[in-house]
Amino acid sequence: MAHAIFTGIVNSNVIDSNDIYLTNRSNEQALKDYAQELGVNYSYDDKALLAQADYVFIGTKPYDFESLAERIRPYITDKNKFISIMAGLPMDYIREQLDTKNPIARIMPNTNAHVGHSVTGISFSSNFGATSKDEVDNLINAFGSAIEVPEDNLHQVTAITGSGPAFLYHVFEQYVTAGTRLGLEKDQVEESIRNLIIGTSKMIERSELSMGQLRKNITSKGGTTQAGLNALSEYDIEGIFEDCLRSAVNRSIELSNQDDDD
Ligand SMILES: NC(=O)c1ccc[n+]([C@@H]2O[C@H](COP(=O)([O-])OP(=O)(O)OC[C@H]3O[C@@H](n4cnc5c(N)ncnc54)[C@H](OP(=O)(O)O)[C@@H]3O)[C@@H](O)[C@H]2O)c1
Repeated sequence: MAHAIFTGIVNSNVIDSNDIYLTNRSNEQALKDYAQELGVNYSYDDKALLAQADYVFIGTKPYDFESLAERIRPYITDKNKFISIMAGLPMDYIREQLDTKNPIARIMPNTNAHVGHSVTGISFSSNFGATSKDEVDNLINAFGSAIEVPEDNLHQVTAITGSGPAFLYHVFEQYVTAGTRLGLEKDQVEESIRNLIIGTSKMIERSELSMGQLRKNITSKGGTTQAGLNALSEYDIEGIFEDCLRSAVNRSIELSNQDDDD
């Protein structure tokens, strides 16, 4: 995820590449390759890194965070503002582990960051200054768009857009499977639906009309589209998605409570 985020940040030129430093736990070759690919620096000198850094992105797996916190805790300086991309770890817990009163933000990006289209939920601690917030927003807009929410609502963002790509892939998979039952070659159906999804996304992107209006515009009374939509309306699709999203929200809450318990 950090790879996707920093690819976007570097490509957008919101910050001078010379001012970006990467680090990791131990895989120096991967770190070196990645720093070279992006044209940024890397270092394992935590003391020097934290003496200089305005913003410190934390991108370990949640279960690795304690070891990271132990590693950097002695070197934290007043200028460091932390931005966690770790799913589920509450700000209070991050603060406690880092043993700092410094500003903390949590962001919940999604995998579309790889193509510069993450929808990223963001939540700031109350001591995050307005200028710093603007700077963080600029960084986030470099790999998509940002939506600021209170920390408790990051669970909903996690469900709707964090896990969202997987839910949509699942729907598209079902569409392909159903399509192949109509008698066309499987490869042809897959290729057509891939292009259908890309084209439809671009229509949504470029049009100022709502999705409902775009649908209405291509639905003639008594036509084929209307027949298909009538069949769909026999099912409670909204209810199905509500179940899906509520399950993801509940799981996100469970996971963050587990971290509290640990
Ligand atoms: N994937 C998604 O769609 C998504 C979406 C939203 C949020 N997230 C969040 O993104 C975070 C990272 O996920 P990922 O899939 O990108 O993980 P990942 O590929 O395993 O990367 C984790 C990185 O953390 C480094 N690391 C681990 N322990 C460290 C330590 N003690 N000191 C310094 N660096 C350390 C690892 O270094 P080494 O390589 O040297 O071990 C590795 O570079 C997770 O917390 C996840 O919740 C992911």
